[in-house]
Amino acid sequence: MVQKIEEYKNEIKNFVAQKSEEVENFRIKYLGSKGLVKEVMAEMKNVAADKKREFGQLLNEFKIYTEAKYEELKAATTNGQVTTTNEIDLSLPGDPLPLGSRHPISLVRNQIVSIFQRLGFAVAEGPEIEDDWHNFTALNLPENHPARDMQDTFYISQNPDWLLRTHTSSVQVREMEKGILPLRIICPGRVYRNETISARAHCFFHQVEGLYIAENVSFADLKQTLYFFVKEMFGENFKVRFRPSYFPFTEPSAEMDISCLICGGKGCNVCKHTGWVEILGCGMVHPNLLDNCGIDSNKYTGFAFGMGIERITMLKYQIKDLRLFSENDVRFLKQFTSAM
Ligand code: PHE
Repeated sequence: MVQKIEEYKNEIKNFVAQKSEEVENFRIKYLGSKGLVKEVMAEMKNVAADKKREFGQLLNEFKIYTEAKYEELKAATTNGQVTTTNEIDLSLPGDPLPLGSRHPISLVRNQIVSIFQRLGFAVAEGPEIEDDWHNFTALNLPENHPARDMQDTFYISQNPDWLLRTHTSSVQVREMEKGILPLRIICPGRVYRNETISARAHCFFHQVEGLYIAENVSFADLKQTLYFFVKEMFGENFKVRFRPSYFPFTEPSAEMDISCLICGGKGCNVCKHTGWVEILGCGMVHPNLLDNCGIDSNKYTGFAFGMGIERITMLKYQIKDLRLFSENDVRFLKQFTSAM
């Protein structure tokens, strides 16, 4: 009997199973209710009493050995099953990873910047928290000047001299103060005004302002620069006009309108039925500004202009509500690709 068990053990040792049915056959053959293990166990009754202990131990080992083998076979084939379900179709396309897109304001800002860079303008930036001098006083808006009311300003309670800049003209002052001439810069950036939020106004928006100071800069230079800009930005199919205007920092001052791109000049809500949309303010730099910044106003002249990026973006993409730009609704944002 002892020898027989050894033989069975050998048989079990060499048993191989590739499929789960074969493992099941193993279980039935060796561990089932009519299996070999039960069969040899039954031999116990024929064993002499003094051998029972020794034989019992042997049988027990045999049972444990068989069960261990069974577990081993089971594990091997379930692993095997994983490898068989591993039949992945490597030619299938992967799950798409959603890519972010640039914000329309960034796209249009970059486009504006690149148009002016081609004309030789350099980008200048400055702080969003400004002092009264750079945002107002140096720009020919001394204290109590009525034009200060044109821009509803957020003041910073900590210091009455501090405010959130209402335009990026403050950056132009900072650049003029450096005294490096000629000066040809554009200043893109975020600005703040205390306005009620609506489809047409927000408490913050984005601007690009431009400044050119050199000898003999004329209004004709300003006009040609801006004509070039709008043509590059909007193409050919629209009209442009300059209207006289007033800004404390420029003299003479003008505003530039383009014929409404949404209704083609026929009149709609966007152009308030006038057929024209104002896109920027501009003018010749007021001599007081040059003096304030230590530039000789007898020798140098300059022009300046300023536009809101939101306005340009709304016209370009026919967006009718300013609030869309700051709500961060992905359904809105994903419509803009950098190719546009
Ligand atoms: N700073 C003006 C504004 O924010 C725009 C402007 C700039 C007008 C330069 C004229 C010249 O409204």
